Amino acid sequence: MSGDIEVATYLEIARGEAEATPRGRPTADEAILILDLGSQYSRLIARRVREAHVYCEIVPHTAGPEVLEQLDVRGIVLSGGPNSVYEEDAPLAPGWVFKAGVPVLGICYGMQLLAHQLGGKVAPGLTREYGYAVIHRETKDDPLLASLDEAIPVWMSHGDRIDVLPPGFRSLAYSENSPVAAMGNDAGLYGIQFHPEVAHTPQGTEIIANFVLRIAGCTGAWTPANFVQEAIVRIRAQVGEGRVICALSGGVDSAVAAVLIQRAIGDRLTCIFVDNGLMRREEPQRVRAVFERNLGLKLVYVEAAERFLGTLKGVTDPEQKRRRIGEEFIRVFEEQAAEIGEVDYLAQGTLYPDVIESKTSESSAAHKIKTHHNVGGLPERMNLELVEPLRYLFKDEVRLAGAELDIAPEIVNRQPFPGPGLAIRVIGEVTYEKLEILRAADWVVMDEIKADKLYGDLWQSFAVLTDTRTVGVMGDQRTYRYVIAIRAVTSADAMTADWARLPYETLARISNRIVNEVPQVNRVVLDVTSKPPGTIEWE
Ligand code: XMP
Repeated sequence: MSGDIEVATYLEIARGEAEATPRGRPTADEAILILDLGSQYSRLIARRVREAHVYCEIVPHTAGPEVLEQLDVRGIVLSGGPNSVYEEDAPLAPGWVFKAGVPVLGICYGMQLLAHQLGGKVAPGLTREYGYAVIHRETKDDPLLASLDEAIPVWMSHGDRIDVLPPGFRSLAYSENSPVAAMGNDAGLYGIQFHPEVAHTPQGTEIIANFVLRIAGCTGAWTPANFVQEAIVRIRAQVGEGRVICALSGGVDSAVAAVLIQRAIGDRLTCIFVDNGLMRREEPQRVRAVFERNLGLKLVYVEAAERFLGTLKGVTDPEQKRRRIGEEFIRVFEEQAAEIGEVDYLAQGTLYPDVIESKTSESSAAHKIKTHHNVGGLPERMNLELVEPLRYLFKDEVRLAGAELDIAPEIVNRQPFPGPGLAIRVIGEVTYEKLEILRAADWVVMDEIKADKLYGDLWQSFAVLTDTRTVGVMGDQRTYRYVIAIRAVTSADAMTADWARLPYETLARISNRIVNEVPQVNRVVLDVTSKPPGTIEWE
């Protein structure tokens, strides 16, 4: 989930358009298509393919053959899925997959579909195979498992299994519970019973690379340098002589989007940075320095802290806070845009996971829990076309592109920060005084986390100002002051997260410094809740 979703969502709604038109799709002259059959791992498959430097897209299993016209498809992957091929509504691979004339790799359920649809026999496995297994290769000369050992540790998760191979297929590997753990035929159709995309299959990346490079014959030209060059060409083609505005959040997504556009069209791009007074200590100044001075972006810097604090006065409900901040942002942004004069395009740092979520079977339940993903009811006003140069990238690819563009590591590797900022980390009413307490405490957390070189390993780490006060003692004095909570989590995509096991020494220093350096705080607690059931932010 991108740190810029907030801004993106507000603006998208302001544009009065529910779904943006896909634009800026890479012209990669080789691509892999991943047909999503309901797997929770489709995204991981896509990331592995991209790691092999091959461009790929995920499409729902209901997609029609026209998807083959939009890309130069060299191979198709059928994902896993929760179904059994014998279930009534089990999704099937559409006919065009087999008529496309390109290699196909079926993973788990995808393999069972190959067997089921091509004349083999799938039988309910007598034992469910779940977790670690070892497969043994049956032949040395198949390209799928080429360069791997005879015995390969893999991650299994299936009930059904292949009993009879479809005509023309041979078994490539077996495991204790799967007589056919991998199969293939001369036409380049392959199936594997295990999940190569998960980290528990240590050589999975190699297997996927074998499929896309050796079998599908891709060259692996999808690199950050190529992406950057291509994106610049595409932006020029889309924008022509037009003018673009872009809201910078300080996060990596909007930064990379802005720099790409600037490289493409120079100062016909104007960036707007709204200092809403809800950022961390020194953050607005740093953002300004990096973008204006180091990157030379044309930047409109808007000091709007008072307006945001004004609209938050007396508000304690988290949803209400989010809504008010969203509305105020739109107002400020619109006013600034009007001052800039004629503008045709709006740039956004939308990422591929945001796009997939709205299109495939991946559950977006977690997305509806907080308003920022669905800021309904805001007035539709602006009439601008979108430029979304990152629409087909994963977060790690955005970071690579950012490095390629020489954007400061401080921005490229920044942990996500929510659009409503510290307002959702001050529990209860947000006031300037409380924000300052939180900024001081958060500064300590960040300082110590960075000093102990933990920053890069954590998805997020920050302080929360609770609205609880407790009794303490300092010197001989009784105190009655605020409680600060420390929240640090590890996560791959923010959909789920675990609380980070920070070293006690780090925690001790953080706690000690906060109570010493922040006079309004006399107690520090640690949040040890995973997500679910907790969310990462407290509000
Ligand atoms: P939760 O708290 O829902 O957060 O577990 C998941 C991720 O989203 C970030 N987050 C936001 N990002 N606008 C944003 O751009 C928001 O309103 C917002 N709320 C939460 C959060 O920091 C975490 O990374």
